[in-house]
Amino acid sequence: MKKKKSLKDLSKVDQLRDKYLPLLKTAGISNPNLEFDLILASTLNITREQAVIAETIDIKKMRILETKLNKRIKRYPIQYLTGKINFMGFEFIVNEECFIPRQETETLVEEAINLKPKTICDVCSGIGSIGISLALYLRNSSIHCSDTNPKALICLSKNLRLHREAISNNRNKVVAIESDLFDKINKDLKFDLIIANPPYISPGDPEVGPETSYEPRNALYADNNGLSAIEKLIPQSKQFLNKNGHLLLEFGYKQSDQVSHLAKSNRYEIVKILIDQEDHKRGILLKLS
Ligand SMILES: C[S@@+](CC[C@H](N)C(=O)[O-])C[C@H]1O[C@@H](n2cnc3c(N)ncnc32)[C@H](O)[C@@H]1O
Repeated sequence: MKKKKSLKDLSKVDQLRDKYLPLLKTAGISNPNLEFDLILASTLNITREQAVIAETIDIKKMRILETKLNKRIKRYPIQYLTGKINFMGFEFIVNEECFIPRQETETLVEEAINLKPKTICDVCSGIGSIGISLALYLRNSSIHCSDTNPKALICLSKNLRLHREAISNNRNKVVAIESDLFDKINKDLKFDLIIANPPYISPGDPEVGPETSYEPRNALYADNNGLSAIEKLIPQSKQFLNKNGHLLLEFGYKQSDQVSHLAKSNRYEIVKILIDQEDHKRGILLKLS
């Protein structure tokens, strides 16, 4: 009898808040209120605004919510719990088999939009955040997305479906290919822009956050101090770029010198080094002349 009463009490959202907000805070979550609301909203399939004023939750949903909150306390990424992210102002579906796009990559996309390319290859596309964002901002473009992870490409297809109407209104075409870098890309194709946020973290880098341990390793880490994918991308891209085509790459904040050196030795012109909000060199725009 007593047990039943306590379960009933726990189904009040306020009591769940009282229980979990301190636990989330102790786990190092900087905005526990916001995260509680986002996880509640995704569990009840309601908006965040509705979650803020929700008073009760049925026992079945409460169990699901508690499981999610307990995962979050172990620093499981919130994006995997809610199943979505916002990138370049658009919603994208994400799941634990795929890399979670980072806000800093928006700088790369903004740079790409300014170039107004008509033919684009988004190498290492993941769930399509870069390629599909470009399809939502540009018009009359053809975009190839490629990744080695078939699960990321399944997610990319879902994101394509989510934005199908807008992409088609913009008269853009997006295709996804499972490929190790350019391996499966038609050798006759030439692009105005090759854009990539490849894996670039050095294995054993102590500076990655706790959430990162839940993401696919292949999306994050690269051999040779994190540079092995970039070392292949820079020379291989030359074959797939139009004359005056651009290569736009994101890299780690300690890699600017090595990437610049590699670019010059492959006879690219360095058009611009991209700087992130913390004033780190995090990207490079190259031109093939
Ligand atoms: C850092 S994530 C970036 C994903 C996406 N572009 C973004 O910015 O959100 C790197 C992606 O590269 C993919 N990848 C790793 N090695 C690859 C390779 N050799 N060829 C193609 N894709 C690769 C991973 O599966 C992962 O999706």
